[in-house]
Parts: sequence; C-alpha cells; structure tokens
Amino acid sequence: MTIDRQLRVAVVGAGPAGIYASDILSKTDLDVSIDLFDRLPAPFGLVRYGVAPDHPRIKQIITALHKVLDRGDIRLLSNVEFGVDVTLDELREFYDAVIFSTGAIKDAALSIPGIDLQGSYGAADFVSWYDGHPDVPDTWPLEAQSVAVLGAGNVALDVARILAKHPKDLLSTEIPDNVYQGLTASPVKDVHVFARRGPAQAKFSPLELRELGHIPDVDVIVYPEDFDFDEGSIQAINSSNQTKQVVKTLTDWTLKDPASFTASRRLHLHFLHAPHELVDIDGDGAVDVLRTERTKLNGDGTVSGTGEQHDWPVQAVYRAIGYFGSELKDVPYDATRGVITNAEGRVLDTTGEHVNGLYCTGWIKRGPVGLIGHTKSDASETIRHLVEDASDLSEFATASRPEPTAISEFLAERGVDVIEWSGWKLLDAWEQSLGEQNGRERVKVVPRAEQIAISLGRQAAHV
Ligand SMILES: Cc1cc2nc3c(=O)[nH]c(=O)nc-3n(C[C@H](O)[C@H](O)[C@H](O)COP(=O)(O)OP(=O)(O)OC[C@H]3O[C@@H](n4cnc5c(N)ncnc54)[C@H](O)[C@@H]3O)c2cc1C
Ligand SMILES: NC(=O)c1ccc[n+]([C@@H]2O[C@H](COP(=O)([O-])OP(=O)(O)OC[C@H]3O[C@@H](n4cnc5c(N)ncnc54)[C@H](OP(=O)(O)O)[C@@H]3O)[C@@H](O)[C@H]2O)c1
Repeated sequence: MTIDRQLRVAVVGAGPAGIYASDILSKTDLDVSIDLFDRLPAPFGLVRYGVAPDHPRIKQIITALHKVLDRGDIRLLSNVEFGVDVTLDELREFYDAVIFSTGAIKDAALSIPGIDLQGSYGAADFVSWYDGHPDVPDTWPLEAQSVAVLGAGNVALDVARILAKHPKDLLSTEIPDNVYQGLTASPVKDVHVFARRGPAQAKFSPLELRELGHIPDVDVIVYPEDFDFDEGSIQAINSSNQTKQVVKTLTDWTLKDPASFTASRRLHLHFLHAPHELVDIDGDGAVDVLRTERTKLNGDGTVSGTGEQHDWPVQAVYRAIGYFGSELKDVPYDATRGVITNAEGRVLDTTGEHVNGLYCTGWIKRGPVGLIGHTKSDASETIRHLVEDASDLSEFATASRPEPTAISEFLAERGVDVIEWSGWKLLDAWEQSLGEQNGRERVKVVPRAEQIAISLGRQAAHV
C-alpha cells in the first residue's frame, strides 16, 4: 500500500544520536520529512554540554553535525520539551513515527552513608556547570583543598582533570566567564581518583589517561601497592590493546621517583578502593572524610571487599560512577537500566510488543556507555527497523495532521518559543563573536533566557 504524502517523523533529542538518526533516515528510500526537537535552545546534546572544553578536537564533531542540519532538509525545533510542551498523544497527531534520542543527563545513584552530605556532588552536575549548561546555577562551590572523585571511567578523568588544572590553561577554550572565575577561586591541591577494581579494569581511554601526564604543574601519582593483576586482568590485557595501553601507562607511572613530585597540584590515582562512607567528623553537615574499603581481585576481574578501611581527609566528593537515563512521560521505561524498553530500537510495551510508530536510539536506547561514534551505528540499527516497518504503511502512517505547519501552529498557540536552525545560527555567530573579542574561538552564552533572546533575534548584537 502507498500513501500520497510524505511520512512525517519526529526525532526527540538533538544530540548526536538524534542528528545521526535524522541524517540516516533522510538518506533512505523513504519519502520522509523530519522534525528534530530538543528541550534546550541549542542543539548537539552532550557534545556541547558534556565533552570537556579542553578537548577541542572532539568538540569539533559539532562541525560535522552542524553540516547535517545546515542542509535544510531536517527541521530543527529547539526549546521544545517533550512531556512538557508536547505530549506523546499530541505528537502522534502530527507524526507517523517518533524516535526518542533523549540521552542521559543525571548521575547514577550511589547508596552509601553520607552521600547526601554537603560537599558531595554528582559528576553530571559539575560537568553541566563547567560546560555552561543553562539549567544549572552559574556558581559552583570550589572550596576544597582535597577532593575525591569516585569511579574509573573517562568522566572521572574529565572531572579530575578540570578540577586539577590551573584555570589559565583553560582560558583558550570556550569555557564561559563564570566557570573561569569559579575555577580561579579554587584552592585545590590534591585530587584523588578512586577505582573500586584494579588497573586492568579501569575504563579510561589510553589517550585521555596519558593526557594527565602532560598537565602543566600537576603531578600524577599512583601507588604500587594498588597494582594487582588476577587471571581476569591478564586476559583483559592480552585481549584488548586499549587495556594494554592503559595498564602500561599506569605501570610506567609507578616507576616515577617521588622526589620528582614538585608541582603545586597533585592528581592521585588509587585502585582497589571501593567507596564505603562519607563522614562528617565535626557535625557541620559537610563531608570531612571519604572512607574506602580495600578490595581484592577475585580471579575473574571482579572484586570483593577485604574489610580493611582507609580514611581520606577531603572536603568534596564527586561521584563519576555513570550517568542514568530519565523516564519520558507515557513512554515505556526500564527503571533498572534507565533506558526506554526496546528491542534494537523498537519501543516495546509491557507485553513485549512493539508500540507502533515508536523508536529510540543513543544512550536512552542502550544505556549511558559509549562514544559519540557509537551513536551512529546505533542509529543505523534503529532506522533499519523503522524502514522495515514502514513497508506496512497502512499500520504505520497514522498522523491526522501531517502538514509541517500544523505542529508549528500548535506550539505557537501553546506559547512555546520555538527556535529553528536559523536561531541556532544566530546564537552560534554571537558566541563566536564573543570569542573573537577575547582571542578565543567561542565563548558560550549560558543563561537560557539570553540564549533564547539571541536565537529569536530579540537581543541587539553586541559590539
Ligand atoms: C561528561 C561526558 C563527556 C564525554 N566526552 C566524550 C568524548 O570526549 N568523546 C566521545 O566520543 N564521547 C564522549 N562522551 C559520550 C557522548 O557524549 C555520548 O556517547 C553521546 O552524547 C550520546 O548521545 P545521545 O544523543 O544519545 O545523548 P545526548 O548527547 O545526551 O543528547 C540527548 C539530547 O536530548 C535532549 N532531550 C532530553 N530530554 C528531552 C526532552 N524531554 N525533550 C526534548 N529533548 C530532550 C537533550 O537536551 C540532549 O540535547 C561523553 C559523555 C559525557 C557524559
Ligand atoms: N574523552 C572521552 O572519550 C570520553 C569522556 C567522557 C566520557 N566518555 C564516554 O562516556 C561513557 C560514560 O562514561 P562514564 O565515565 O560515565 O562511565 P563508565 O565508563 O561506565 O565508568 C564508570 C566507572 O564508575 C565505576 N562505578 C560504577 N558504579 C560504582 C560504584 N557503585 N562504586 C564505585 N565505582 C563505581 C565503574 O567501575 P566498574 O568498572 O567496577 O563498574 C567505572 O569505573 C563511556 O563510554 C566513556 O568512554 C568518553
């Protein structure tokens, strides 16, 4: 069966997963028109609000994503929040299919005593702050001399590096002024990263790990007593070049002469220490000590606690133990994994049946692990299924108001300040011009209201 109009598809979430999915879908044989929504005024998801500002090469992925949207065949509708500005039932009036690519923005929970003390933070919140996310306060309490970072993934490395770096070494990046001012006030001397397993189980990327060794005036310190390798570790080293490189870098650092540690700041990497408790010694409601439990490898790369505890005097603790996807209103959700219930991107109801016309991709599909590049292969799988399903158009093409103007009228009536691609281009130009005035490539605009005003041409150009 054929229909005499284009298929209308909504993609909710304009991070890399949503943009790749839109791009791949637009290149299929389907006659399709795509609207790409995001709750934020600016697109690009965690590439803009997660990737560290001192990683300009990775931030450059925005240029490739920008090119996709600049073609003009995918319509961006930013500053529209699914579940708030538009519901699932409403979207279904305008679209035949909806692809969710809403990612993950929250920290996974860590249930240990004291985790709610003052001075205990989630990495996701801190990342949002230093990357200029409009939904977090513009100041961050950086008062600690000694800081603990929990977790041994790349986010832990990002957080530890940004905390340890001298702010002048970030000044060439796009960090907003409030972030530079905040970091400048930080009295930090020691940043301790804690991995609950051994060096061969660390999830660091080799390049990101090696980068630590090149931070000006920061010594990286590891502890030989933390180095243990069981059978599982040996297998991991032998089967993964990445693990081999990480272990080599870490092992090389154990050979450093302590007399060479002369930097004003230190970044310590500890292994086989599981977080046990955050302790408030003086009863003022703030963390004074991180208590860890020494772990031992079980033989297969897993660990067990030994009962031996260590106290680390710290005034701030950042948990970087993974992100967690949020539930979307009326969309089936797996609360254990923090993902939309799905099979290869087809959204499933409680009986395991595909919910007609609903799909997902990216971190909200498979969980908050994987690089930007992985969201591309992910999107290919989801779009392949959408295309297969679209062959049965009698089931599929369900929108009752498919004309592209209908959703715009609906959102205008609801009073939503929708920002289209031309609006992002205004903000983009504004930020680049701010950067130019300061000899930098870009300086981010942070407040949401200001982003909206610039994007909608309501704010006069600065000179
Ligand atoms: C701190 C950090 C640093 C990282 N650094 C790197 C790196 O250097 N290199 C690398 O390859 N990978 C990196 N990653 C991984 C990379 O960011 C992810 O693989 C990728 O961003 C996941 O893409 P996504 O589109 O699924 O999610 P996201 O990038 O999170 O995009 C989701 C989008 O959906 C929008 N959204 C959410 N809810 C709604 C809603 N209700 N309505 C409308 N829109 C909504 C969000 O605003 C967001 O724009 C990093 C991850 C983190 C957390
Ligand atoms: N520069 C980059 O390329 C870059 C930067 C940032 C993020 N990313 C990517 O983004 C993804 C997410 O990164 P991530 O660092 O959030 O996640 P991650 O790679 O999954 O690392 C999470 C870390 O937290 C630890 N952890 C989990 N639960 C814990 C607990 N209860 N107690 C103590 N430790 C715990 C894990 O240890 P176990 O292994 O023992 O579970 C692991 O070391 C990854 O794919 C990452 O590579 C990439």
